[in-house]
Amino acid sequence: MSPAAPGNAAQTAPSPSSLTRNYLSVADLSPEEILHLLDRALELKRFRTTEHPLAGRTAGLVFQKPSLRTRVSFEVAMLQLGGHAVYLSPAEVGLGQREAAVDVARVLSRYVDVLVARVFLHSDVVALAEYASVPVINALSDREHPCQILADLLTLYERRGTLRGLHLAYVGDGNNVAHSLALAAPGLGIHLRVACPDGYEPDGAIMDQAQAGAPTGAIELFRDPREAVRGADAVYTDTWYSMGQESEAEARAPAFRRFQLNSELLAEAKPGAMAMHCLPAHRNQEITDEVMDGGASVVYDQAENRLHVQKALLLKLFGRD
Ligand code: CP
Ligand code: NVA
Repeated sequence: MSPAAPGNAAQTAPSPSSLTRNYLSVADLSPEEILHLLDRALELKRFRTTEHPLAGRTAGLVFQKPSLRTRVSFEVAMLQLGGHAVYLSPAEVGLGQREAAVDVARVLSRYVDVLVARVFLHSDVVALAEYASVPVINALSDREHPCQILADLLTLYERRGTLRGLHLAYVGDGNNVAHSLALAAPGLGIHLRVACPDGYEPDGAIMDQAQAGAPTGAIELFRDPREAVRGADAVYTDTWYSMGQESEAEARAPAFRRFQLNSELLAEAKPGAMAMHCLPAHRNQEITDEVMDGGASVVYDQAENRLHVQKALLLKLFGRD
């Protein structure tokens, strides 16, 4: 279904979406804004406020894919800030099937104050943002997972006190998580080394965007995971097959095997290096039990930090930061 012509849009849209602030990509926030959000999130984590700055506000959660962390952390974030969240499953909305994104965006904008959308195609969250008159937050698309990366940055920041100068290695699939990491890292002074199997590299155009304006070598690509991990402060991995790619799991496994985050690979990193994963993990595929449950693992901090940093993000979008 294609969106209606702009002439029709003018009759129905309550206000142009260009006046709202969307968060579709981690690149929608400047490095300074990210650092400000991280400080605010740390404050919110340490001193849980009893104030309700979002009283009367509602978030519409439009999810085309399953979720544990994203759904719960956004729902709890809204609740703790005094607002409310309405979860809409794929069965209810059928984005692009039961109803075009343009109509979903326009209708929901009449009920809710912010949209949080988890979609297959990035173009769907872009379409929602184009036609919504309220802010739209990307809660994961095939291109990016920007909220996750804010939580990961918060985890690094609270553990190390600074992001500047950190060496972060990402091993595995060049997917949405890798893209958001790459788009955020250089501006914050993080050196990112990415190791992917042949044919599973991050998108070239996104990597060019990430590298643009950054010092040469801010992001390096490797084929050998050990080279990428050598001397790193933190080692990050994600599933070898993302949601929607389950049918490729078996075919992909051989190419990814040597990219497993196990104790041997982690031993190449700095002593005390952190092991990171956005979850859900396929234990003993991309990450071993030993690493997930070991002393280096910060995976549950990453998960917890989704809540704190999304509270900071929501406050920012509502002008209450
Ligand atoms: N990390 C993450 O986004 O988890 P969910 O898919 O459970 O939301
Ligand atoms: N890359 C994974 C992240 C899940 C949080 C996916 O898109 O399924």
